[in-house]
Amino acid sequence: MLEEQPSAADLDLIAEFEPRFEMLDANSLVALAENAPLGDGGVHASNLLAQALEKDPHNHAAHLLKEQLHQMFVPRWHFPMLADTVRNQAYAKAIAAKVQPGDIVLDIGCGAGLTAMLAARAGAKHVYAIEGQPLIATAAKQVIADNGLSDKITVLSKWSHELVIGEDLPDRADVVVSEIVDSNLLGEGALATLTHAMEHLAKPNARAVPESGTLKAQLVESAALRNQYRPLEAEGFDLSAFHKFANVAQVTPNDSAACGLRPLGPTSDLFHFDFTRPDMSHGKTTLPLFCTTMGTAHAVVVSFDMVLAPGISVSNDLNTDGHWGRFSYLLEQSTPVSVGSQVTITAQHDATKLSVSIHDTTPAERPIIWQRGVNSRSTFAPVPEATTSWFVPDTQETPSSERPVH
Ligand SMILES: C[S@@+](CC[C@H](N)C(=O)[O-])C[C@H]1O[C@@H](n2cnc3c(N)ncnc32)[C@H](O)[C@@H]1O
Repeated sequence: MLEEQPSAADLDLIAEFEPRFEMLDANSLVALAENAPLGDGGVHASNLLAQALEKDPHNHAAHLLKEQLHQMFVPRWHFPMLADTVRNQAYAKAIAAKVQPGDIVLDIGCGAGLTAMLAARAGAKHVYAIEGQPLIATAAKQVIADNGLSDKITVLSKWSHELVIGEDLPDRADVVVSEIVDSNLLGEGALATLTHAMEHLAKPNARAVPESGTLKAQLVESAALRNQYRPLEAEGFDLSAFHKFANVAQVTPNDSAACGLRPLGPTSDLFHFDFTRPDMSHGKTTLPLFCTTMGTAHAVVVSFDMVLAPGISVSNDLNTDGHWGRFSYLLEQSTPVSVGSQVTITAQHDATKLSVSIHDTTPAERPIIWQRGVNSRSTFAPVPEATTSWFVPDTQETPSSERPVH
């Protein structure tokens, strides 16, 4: 596990000590990097490797370690995310619609700097771009400088809950921009982060991009998905006793295309989150998923709709092909369905995790399956005040009026 992130003062100290290693040869610098503690997010090790590569540009061990560091601290989903033009255009439009000249914008989790630059382009007086991963923050500074926006954007290598108004930002923000949602909306800590930010870092009635999100579920048919996760046999041997481990399929966009997930009915809303006034209360709902076509139910797919600004939203439902994956909760047994059939599910969430159990398809109800953002989107962000236990106690049932069914 990673140690606690260092303070800005620690990072300055580390940088100050770097010249001491100038006298060492490339291999000695690599050896130091190999043993460097990683509690600073890889900054020190990265500096040592940069020095090693200056001395010996073809040092294989230095290249190898550098790649390992990057894989460790820069999650791979950053790249397909930045190439997701539908997402990018939706954020560009929403930020342009919400940011007004003279605004102070807080961009929580600036990543490569795209959302911060969109806010600067939209006319913000100044953008404070916050990034908890120091290696990513350093790259964002460079990207922003390359685009001539360093005077409009200040990059701070901090987690948002470490920010101090009056020190890091001159004043509370007029607009809070973020894109910290995984396939199930909650796994990157958006609820905890935005609950803190809207209360402590934003002006009363500050605008937010995104402004809300909804989790929804849908029954699907996909024999290919079922066979991929629950193959009945291999070389003539019965593997079914192993299937109990395959309750949740982490379906990447490529898997979705290959498995041809066929909706058997409309999506039903599970939970709605107001990101302008978020809170961390848990929620639980039990509801039927309806079938409007004949087929065989194999899984329940959970997806989200996220409203960035009025009329501008992003989604990872089955009608979209962006970079977000989807969690699919597999039925114990393939279940023939016809028009009007329904399968009941229970869904529950806390600040970071969603669980889904499927009723009525087997003699005994299946156990609740907890899931957080572990597939195409996950982060190292520490989540303030979120539970750290794997077990979360049961919550009150959501009143039925809060369980809209499409
Ligand atoms: C999904 S990326 C989005 C990057 C950029 N905003 C964009 O949309 O292109 C989210 C980034 O937020 C960072 N992050 C997540 N939670 C954070 C927090 N509470 N404070 C600071 N950075 C955070 C992660 O390290 C990650 O780099």
